Amino acid sequence: MAAIDDISIIPSVLPADFANLGSAVRDLELAGVDRIQWDVMDGVFVPNLTFGPDVIKATRRYSDLPYEAHLMIEAPDQYLADYVNAGCNQLIIHAESTKHLHRTLGRVKSLGAKAAVALNPSTPIEMIENVIDLVDMILIMTVNPGFGGQAYISTMANKIAGARDLAQSADHLVEVEVDGGISPLTVVHAVKAGARALVAGSSLFRHPEGLKSAVSELRSLALENI
Ligand code: DX5
Repeated sequence: MAAIDDISIIPSVLPADFANLGSAVRDLELAGVDRIQWDVMDGVFVPNLTFGPDVIKATRRYSDLPYEAHLMIEAPDQYLADYVNAGCNQLIIHAESTKHLHRTLGRVKSLGAKAAVALNPSTPIEMIENVIDLVDMILIMTVNPGFGGQAYISTMANKIAGARDLAQSADHLVEVEVDGGISPLTVVHAVKAGARALVAGSSLFRHPEGLKSAVSELRSLALENI
């Protein structure tokens, strides 16, 4: 089977106005993004705290786009159903956050959600070779998780390429996503390495011409370099 080749632009909600998240997701949909990523942080797996399931649920009626929950939390199993019930279509599990990754991914699938696995910069791609049959998406972190606005780690290129090779080897469609420091200055590098789903926060919300232009520019650069 092949890795998914379509380009997807996925905003991280982290830089949005937390006092108006419903408006934020509506504006993102109007700006032409493909789905929305919620960076869920517990203050233990990463040194930051963000969105519980009820916050995400409160915004669900403002957008029809798929939601993915990037679970940067320790021992995620206890919260899987809560984030699916909050309206998340895909759950992203960090390979480093659970002792039984195969079981956790299977639980995500049993809840009817897509199962994705994320790897921190220091975690080798080999860590997920034995669970690729359960994985709909591989997320290669191109920053150390916890905060937006960090610098893209360009040495992840080989790991992105390894993720694409692993995706290609699967007997079902697997997407390769990158997250962290994705901007017009780094998107070409990531796409040429094999990424097709591009998570961006700062570069979208800080674009001088607004969200729609930011999304369009990132998508064009990516499409020109597949
Ligand atoms: C890190 C977060 C960020 C965020 C994207 O834990 O996951 O990578 O989504 O932030 P930017 O695009 O500002 O690097």
